[in-house]
Amino acid sequence: MAVETERERLDPDLERIARANLKELGDIRIDDVLSFIDRGIENMPSYMDLYRRWESQQWAVGDLDFALDRQDWLESSELDRKATLWSHRLFFNGEERVTSTLAPFVWAAPSPEIEIFLSTQMADEARHTAFFDRWWHEVVGTETTNLAELLAEIRPDTNEGYTELFYDRLPSTAQRLASNPKDIEAFIEGVTLYHIVIEATLALTGQRFELESMRELGTTDRGFYRGFTAIARDESRHVNFGIKVLQEAVREDAARFAPIIQKTLVECLPQTHSTRPILATSPSSAVPRVRFSSSRSTRSTSACGRSGSTSPPESWPAMNIERMGPEDQDRVMAAAALFDYPPRSDAVNRFLADPNHHLLIAYSGDVPAGFVSGVEVTHPDKGTEMFLYELAVDEAHQRQGIGTALVEALRDLARAQGCYGMWVLTDDDNAAAGATYRKAGGEVESQPLMFSWRFVR
Ligand SMILES: [Fe+2]
Ligand SMILES: [Fe+2]
Repeated sequence: MAVETERERLDPDLERIARANLKELGDIRIDDVLSFIDRGIENMPSYMDLYRRWESQQWAVGDLDFALDRQDWLESSELDRKATLWSHRLFFNGEERVTSTLAPFVWAAPSPEIEIFLSTQMADEARHTAFFDRWWHEVVGTETTNLAELLAEIRPDTNEGYTELFYDRLPSTAQRLASNPKDIEAFIEGVTLYHIVIEATLALTGQRFELESMRELGTTDRGFYRGFTAIARDESRHVNFGIKVLQEAVREDAARFAPIIQKTLVECLPQTHSTRPILATSPSSAVPRVRFSSSRSTRSTSACGRSGSTSPPESWPAMNIERMGPEDQDRVMAAAALFDYPPRSDAVNRFLADPNHHLLIAYSGDVPAGFVSGVEVTHPDKGTEMFLYELAVDEAHQRQGIGTALVEALRDLARAQGCYGMWVLTDDDNAAAGATYRKAGGEVESQPLMFSWRFVR
């Protein structure tokens, strides 16, 4: 077969990431890795370009050094360990699931170039599984003597969405392809599920959250950071591949293929909604302080341990953010545990009745898990901006991305209200608040001094 041999030309910044070795990956941000996907959408590489990227982006699990990771582990609290294990079990198990179901996709490849690329992906997914196997043995420690035993030991008690995607839809789609490799419609459905829902939506989102949390903590020299960044770079190739397959299918016959893609997304994306917060946990030492807030209440950050529970639940229900209106006094009172002091009914009524005051509460199932409040402030020469007044997340519901989601929700509301910007003040030693605001897109503008006038109490 004649295959292309010319190497694709990349911009210098992408070339640096494309060529980085494991040590250099410690200096690279996940967002830079993900820019391969954005650029790929603008200027789609060929399947053989992606193959050649794979050739030049080889890395070895055996080259990683987990000594510092092990030291972190030994020094971390029981709570940190539980949270890290919860997140890594999902990734580890997920990598094994995608390794075990990819072969029928290779058999069903509609062209030799696709067959070649998918064969490289099989090697990648096996390496990702081996990465977690080694991390588990050297950082956590295990008595198991082979991978099958370890996988049985780590298999997470997951929620319905995870089970449906990894134990029902993925293997049944692979089985359809194995039974009839010429079923191109099953192939398109499978690529939508595998490359778009599982890899682009679930895996890369979780990886981004975890790697950025490690960057905030200054732990980018750990073996886990380097290896996980190499995994994210591999996943960016896989996602580029999936987008290309679907783009070509729709160009070839939109009436036939677009409804299959759409139906698969409509059916599967709700499953990721309940899976994503679980994947988006922080790394072992990333324990945010119990609550963080704007300058008005940072002096009360020692108020902690409001909820009793000290370990992550076995399964986190879906999170939902709701905006409180004038009729919601009772719901605010029911969320009293989230506030510094018990809410006063006169202040609650006044707050909710004022259209420039906003309160968003995050519910985990039916339980109030956190809130963000904001006030629109207007100045004659500038217009209106949103002041992020206070942010709080209940201890038992931390590590699920709720703080970031609340800040993003208030930011979106500010945009919708026509504000030209949003601002917040926080103490410079409040790392958890800083990390959350950065994750939600905020940038440090200055380091002001705060003066206050207190009229009562
Ligand atoms: Fe993978
Ligand atoms: Fe992958």
